[in-house]
Amino acid sequence: SVTPVILCGGSGTRLWPLSRSGFPKQFLVLSGGDSKLSLFQEAIERINAIANQDIDLGPTFIVTNEEHRFLALDQLRELPSIKATLLLEPIGRNTAPALTLAAFQARDGGPNTELDPILVITPADQTVQKTAAFVKALQDCVAIVDADQSKKTIAILGITPTAPETGYGYIQRSKEQGAHHEYTVAKFVEKPDSKTAQAYLVDGSYLWNSGMFVLRASTWIAALKEFRADIFGATETAWQGKTIDQSGDVGFVRPDKELFKTIPSESIDYAVIEKCPGSSFVVKMVELDAGWSDLGAWDAVWQVGSQDSNGNVTSGDTLLSNTKNSLVHASTRLVSTVGIDNLVIIETADAVLVADRANSQDVKQIVSQLEAQK
Ligand code: GDD
Ligand code: MG
Repeated sequence: SVTPVILCGGSGTRLWPLSRSGFPKQFLVLSGGDSKLSLFQEAIERINAIANQDIDLGPTFIVTNEEHRFLALDQLRELPSIKATLLLEPIGRNTAPALTLAAFQARDGGPNTELDPILVITPADQTVQKTAAFVKALQDCVAIVDADQSKKTIAILGITPTAPETGYGYIQRSKEQGAHHEYTVAKFVEKPDSKTAQAYLVDGSYLWNSGMFVLRASTWIAALKEFRADIFGATETAWQGKTIDQSGDVGFVRPDKELFKTIPSESIDYAVIEKCPGSSFVVKMVELDAGWSDLGAWDAVWQVGSQDSNGNVTSGDTLLSNTKNSLVHASTRLVSTVGIDNLVIIETADAVLVADRANSQDVKQIVSQLEAQK
């Protein structure tokens, strides 16, 4: 069977001031159009759409921070058809330990889990416009992993790059395509510097990593043991001290708090995926052409939003005059603009952001400065 895993413990600092540590971006409604669902809810629905006659889906594992359990739970309850287990981290240790919790939960089994399922892991901070194409590509990934008896295969989704972004992983693909539209990954480079990213874009054989991974729980555990025995060991010890609360409709699993803090912080990409090509583990990539966007910064929210004839995307109580190509959000009062273009204006009860759309990546520096003042 197949277990969906949603990673949603990040803090989304570049979408400040709407995204806060107490209410990070994955729980916001951001994808524009008619959607009333948060990114988190969309991720759950999208991934659960891959079920078919060959793919039998188990409960969805949601790995998030203890601090966000009520947010996650409230939003889950709006999706009544979804069965879920919440794996709660006392503190963020990045995605490698987060995925390890999901793999342990799958390995050890709960009342509803089957031993060693295929995990389909997705971040919760993205939008995908064409669900059908997305579903097909992920079904290919599941078939690729399922076909490998040796349990050494990791399947990922690649996006054709459009700019030398430095916030993504870059996947170098081989030339030959396999039976499920897959390419063997020759090289994986997480967050290259901008010179390297430029070179990859020119080279043409690199795709962006979408941040979704398909692999068996035992494959993740074996690869982590091989490449980062320290993360594996520390997470295993914290897992042994877990508490389980199965009293409600949704189960909660909490690793030991003090032991969890000792786990080195690292992402899936750096800890394992970069190290796989050339090892005994194989990475296969399926191309995803489905209107994928990682809502990393406000500019991306503007890009995917419903733009009016002047290229503006607005939400809340706004009044615009002679304004072009701007993103204007009002949370608590009327926000009006006159004679501006290419700005991001985000109003909330206690903070207002005004930024050049082109510099919206740098909002995280404001958040760092605010943290430093705390
Ligand atoms: N549970 C949990 N715990 N989730 C986390 C944690 C954590 O400590 N840290 C991050 N996440 C969640 C985030 O909420 C997000 O949904 C997802 O994991 C990915 O983390 P990011 O921090 O957003 O990663 P990234 O964007 O820098 O890089 C990843 O995604 C890119 C595509 O968007 C990598 O996989 C890149 O290779 C990829 O290109
Ligand atoms: Mg991200």
